[in-house]
Amino acid sequence: MGRLARLVLVPVMAMVAAVVLAVPGANAQSSRYEAEDAACDGTIDANYTGFSGRGFCNTANRTGAYVQFTVHSGAPGTFTLGIKYANGSSAARPADLSVNGALARSGVAFEPTGSWNGWAVANVSVPVREGANTIRLAATTAGGLANIDYLDVVRAGGSVLPSSLQWSSTGPLVFPKSDATHNIVSVKDPSVVHHNGRYHVFVSVVSANQGYGLAYLSFTDWSQAGSAPLHFLDRSAIGSGYKAAPQVFYFAPQQRWYLTYQIGDNVAYSTTANLADPTSWSAPKPFYADTPQIVLDNMGGGQWLDFWTVCDAATCHMYSSDDNGNLYRAQTSLARFPNGFSEPVIAMHDPNHHWLFEGANVYRLAGANEYLLMVEAITAGGRIFRSWTSSSISGPWTPLADTKENPFAARSNVTFGGTAWTNDISHGELIRSGIDQTLTVDPCDLRFLYQGKDPNASGPYNLLPWRLGLLTQTNSPC
Ligand code: GCU
Ligand code: CA
Repeated sequence: MGRLARLVLVPVMAMVAAVVLAVPGANAQSSRYEAEDAACDGTIDANYTGFSGRGFCNTANRTGAYVQFTVHSGAPGTFTLGIKYANGSSAARPADLSVNGALARSGVAFEPTGSWNGWAVANVSVPVREGANTIRLAATTAGGLANIDYLDVVRAGGSVLPSSLQWSSTGPLVFPKSDATHNIVSVKDPSVVHHNGRYHVFVSVVSANQGYGLAYLSFTDWSQAGSAPLHFLDRSAIGSGYKAAPQVFYFAPQQRWYLTYQIGDNVAYSTTANLADPTSWSAPKPFYADTPQIVLDNMGGGQWLDFWTVCDAATCHMYSSDDNGNLYRAQTSLARFPNGFSEPVIAMHDPNHHWLFEGANVYRLAGANEYLLMVEAITAGGRIFRSWTSSSISGPWTPLADTKENPFAARSNVTFGGTAWTNDISHGELIRSGIDQTLTVDPCDLRFLYQGKDPNASGPYNLLPWRLGLLTQTNSPC
């Protein structure tokens, strides 16, 4: 959503979490690699109890006997390895641990575990590089290795995502469409879920008279997005009047879909039991009695906008911006949602308001103990997204790709099939792997639905010809 929009209050003319399991090799940040899938210098046996998967690696009894795993890392960093083993002999079975051929730890002990049915975990931290890493345990005594069941890897700090991202973009996929009572010049601010085999996309639409409203479209495949009809949500109980910047999600505890959106000086929600019926949304209910004092005190010449709800197991958080360099966060309990949101606090501030502008997104990264924050910034070269990560949904946030030289997504790290149709990578959303309030995305499958526009377009901000395009990450290490 952009500046100035709130000033134009012209009536518009008349989201169950997908359980993402840690797949060996798919996402190394919190993954289990079974020894039966590794290179085992011996046999895969299953003649004792207590192992995981289909068996364990029983190496030959000799010096140098090994098991070697290949693990994938989204970025350089440190992995804590948990090696599950059994040693029913009466002496340690020490091993050298090498990473990518270089000795990382010598003589990891693998002490006796009492019996071959008794398992223990040895923990070791090792450095890893981006992409594939070989992790090899090699026996240093004639007994060979202990029996090895699996390798668990957990990233110590850092991020599951590469520290530098590359994308390719489609051309424009979603266009304005008008009817007898809606003269639409742009589609903006998309929110998207994939549910029951279809993409369900909610957008802001701007009319030729500069009024903002909401619309919905649905399709099975991106190739059909351009021909999908726009359903104007002023035909539901949401009604007419300024509405913009929707966010959709399924609130699993109540088994209802929520649509949140800005209504001028506040944020409101509507709900439905049927996502596919755009006429079924309930009348707007504001989250706040009024614009909170901390926003009034800090927004300067900006406006309070771009509301983003995301929940963990116990709490829901609402992020928002003010076009004045402040990122706000408010919170309520999962049990009280949508009620009980606290006064916001300032979660992040930048004295250059363009550099921390609006359009904040927060996601949970599947398979990693990690959240991703993205915020839109204005640069001379166009709109870009900056990014941070945290182990907590409420921060603190550590920079991931947050500079002009190394942005999360910008014209500079996006390739287009031919001439770039846009210089702006503006207000959008990642494609989620689930539908629920946790806003979970698969870090191995980053796709970003965004708004862009003809680089030569000019004129009033509210009449800029925004269209929607889709970015796909091209340098995923998974
Ligand atoms: C026994 C046991 C094996 C083990 C071996 C060893 O043969 O059954 O599972 O690997 O001892 O000493 O290495
Ligand atoms: Ca053995």
